[in-house]
Amino acid sequence: MIPPEEETVMRVLVTGCEGQLGFDLIRELDSRQIPCRGVDRADFDLTDGPAVLSYVQAYKPDVIVHCAAYTAVDRAESEPEVCAEINGMGTMNTVRAALSVGAKLVYISTDYVFSGAGTTPWKEDDPCAPLNIYGLSKLQGETAVRSLMTRFFILRTSWVFGLHGNNFVRTMLRLGRKQKEISVVNDQIGSPTYTRDLARIICEMIPTEKFGIYHVTNEGYLSWADFARRIMAAEGLPCRIVPVPSEAYPTAARRPLNSRLDGSRLREAGFRPLPPVEDALARYLAELEQNPSVTERF
Ligand SMILES: NC(=O)c1ccc[n+]([C@@H]2O[C@H](COP(=O)([O-])OP(=O)(O)OC[C@H]3O[C@@H](n4cnc5c(N)ncnc54)[C@H](OP(=O)(O)O)[C@@H]3O)[C@@H](O)[C@H]2O)c1
Repeated sequence: MIPPEEETVMRVLVTGCEGQLGFDLIRELDSRQIPCRGVDRADFDLTDGPAVLSYVQAYKPDVIVHCAAYTAVDRAESEPEVCAEINGMGTMNTVRAALSVGAKLVYISTDYVFSGAGTTPWKEDDPCAPLNIYGLSKLQGETAVRSLMTRFFILRTSWVFGLHGNNFVRTMLRLGRKQKEISVVNDQIGSPTYTRDLARIICEMIPTEKFGIYHVTNEGYLSWADFARRIMAAEGLPCRIVPVPSEAYPTAARRPLNSRLDGSRLREAGFRPLPPVEDALARYLAELEQNPSVTERF
C-alpha cells in the first residue's frame, strides 16, 4: 500500500521565477514544503524548444506553472514578433514539454484578452478580442494550451503587484513622495491582484483535477485613479490624485476600459476567493516596509 504522504507528493516547475509572481510562488511552495524548482532566462530561453524540452524531461515535474512572459505591454507594440515568439511559441514549447512528461500545466493569462466593451464583468467563456499586441500574444498562449492538452488550468488575472518587480503601487509610491499631485486614468476599471494571494490559490489548485479556465483577482472593482487614492491614503501621503480619461494619457498600447473579471467560477469550484483589494494592499505595503533591500532594487 502507498503511504498517504507519497500519494500527494508532487514536483513543481515554475517558469519566470525572477518575476513578480514566479518569485512569490516559489516562496509559497517552499513554505508548504512542496518540492519545486524555479527557472528563468538564465536556465533556458522559452523560445528554444529543444532546451525547454530537455530541461523538463530531466526534472520530470508533475506540474509546470508557466509564469514567464513578455510583459512590456507598450513596448510590445513596436516588437510584436518578439512578444508573439515568447508568449505564443514559448508557451507552445512549454505545453509540448509538459505533455512529454505527463505534467499538468498552469498558464497565467490576463484581462487583456478581452475587448473592454461594456461594464459587465467578463465570464471565462465570453469571447476574446484583445486590443493590443500583448493581449493577442497571451491569447495565442491560451490557444496553444487549450488546443493541445486537457489537464490545464488557465488563470486570468489582472493589475498584478508583488515584491519582486516594478508595478503600479511602486510607481505611485515613488511619485507620491515627490509630487503634490498626479494625474491618473479613471475610466479603466479592474481589480488589482497581489502575487502572494495568487500564489496561494495556485498551490490550492494544483493538487486537484478541477481543470479549466478561471478568473482570479483580489475582490473589488476600481479604477486606476481609485487605486492610486487608496495607496496614498494607506501610506499617509498628501499627494492629490487628479482623475483623467485614458485619452489624456496616451500610451503605445490601447488598454481595455472594462477589465472587470467575474470570479464566480472559482467560488463555484470550491476554491476560497482572494481577499479584498484593501486587505491585499495593506499586506503588500507592510511587506515592502519589511524588505527595504529588495524594494531598493526596483
Ligand atoms: N503584471 C501584470 O500586471 C499582469 C497582469 C495580468 C497577467 N499577467 C501575467 O502574469 C504572469 C506573471 O507576470 P509578472 O508580472 O510576474 O511577470 P514579470 O515580473 O514580468 O516576470 C516575467 C519573467 O519571465 C521571464 N521571461 C521573459 N521572457 C523569457 C524568455 N524568453 N525565456 C525565459 N524567461 C523569460 C522574465 O525574464 P526577463 O526579465 O529576463 O525578461 C521575467 O523574469 C505573466 O504570464 C503575465 O503575462 C501579468
